Amino acid sequence: MISSFVRDQWYVAAYADEIGTDLFARTVCGEPLVFFRAEDGTAVALADRCVHRRFPLSQSRRDGDTIVCGYHGFTYDTSGSCVFVPGQKRIPRTARVASYPLVEQDSFVWVWIGSRDLADPDLIPRAPWLADPAYTTVRGMEPLAARYGLLVDNLLDLSHETYLHGGYIGTPEVAETPITTEVDDEKGVIYVSRRMADAACPPFYAESTGIKGRITRWQDIEYRPPCLYLLHSRIAPAGVLPNDDGTDPGAFHVEVVYAITPETENSTHDFWAVARDFALEDAKVSGFLHDSNRAVVLQDVAALNVLEKVIAAEAGGYQELSINIDTGGLAARRILARMAASPVKEPA
Ligand code: FES
Ligand SMILES: [Fe+2]
Repeated sequence: MISSFVRDQWYVAAYADEIGTDLFARTVCGEPLVFFRAEDGTAVALADRCVHRRFPLSQSRRDGDTIVCGYHGFTYDTSGSCVFVPGQKRIPRTARVASYPLVEQDSFVWVWIGSRDLADPDLIPRAPWLADPAYTTVRGMEPLAARYGLLVDNLLDLSHETYLHGGYIGTPEVAETPITTEVDDEKGVIYVSRRMADAACPPFYAESTGIKGRITRWQDIEYRPPCLYLLHSRIAPAGVLPNDDGTDPGAFHVEVVYAITPETENSTHDFWAVARDFALEDAKVSGFLHDSNRAVVLQDVAALNVLEKVIAAEAGGYQELSINIDTGGLAARRILARMAASPVKEPA
């Protein structure tokens, strides 16, 4: 099977506060990694397989800024170079494990999967709300036992909210309202918008904003393949629109961020965050939005885990039927396939 992973890309490996002094294992795009913070606080990622007999370094121990393999004691520094082997003075030249470029930004730790020389931090897409004091964020990560493409499909078509997430974020208007889709092929960004002028307010927003009646609800998706998905959500009492100068004091803004990080060909790290610009100090609203969004994510996880099993069990050649709501998802598949086939070229 040809790998569906897009290489030479930045992926969210973890939230910054998941990585501390303890060794921490996470697999990204099929590559097992071990993370830790060096004594100066710098986050480090190394291949999580000892070069000697593959023992996972994540199940070994730290000694200062080195990792001592738990099997026979090969010892690695933060660059992955072996600085000690047992029973001999000479350290083989090839005694090293790969180290991975990391960047901490917007509360995430991004890891570069691909050729080290191509790792350009300027290519990392931004989610500034997650580290902005003007917003309050709740977040989590759920393991998904399904290929990442299924999560991309899911997030680019929110009409499923009506059917899968009724009682949380779904109302009839989501499925009823047509979408507009724009694809910036050059930048490889996909935009899908659904703007509901007069819609029921789902519990997710009624409870958090306190709006009692019907709402104007905008869902503006911006997908930056492969990893970062943004849903700019605007909620206001029905008929309340932004001012001509772009200010928007009558609305509530929620930035829903997903990082879609493939773990293996058939499993995915589903990072989710919900940032809001209202009720900033309200712990009850935070608790409610956290629990509600996690419940929604788990509904998606349950559905996609079923789909993964269905796909794994079927004979090839199944013909899906696509309709208007799938325009964004189909564009995403096209761009991901293109990216997987031709990773970025070396900068001139
Ligand atoms: S497997 Fe690590 S030292 Fe042997
Ligand atoms: Fe969903």
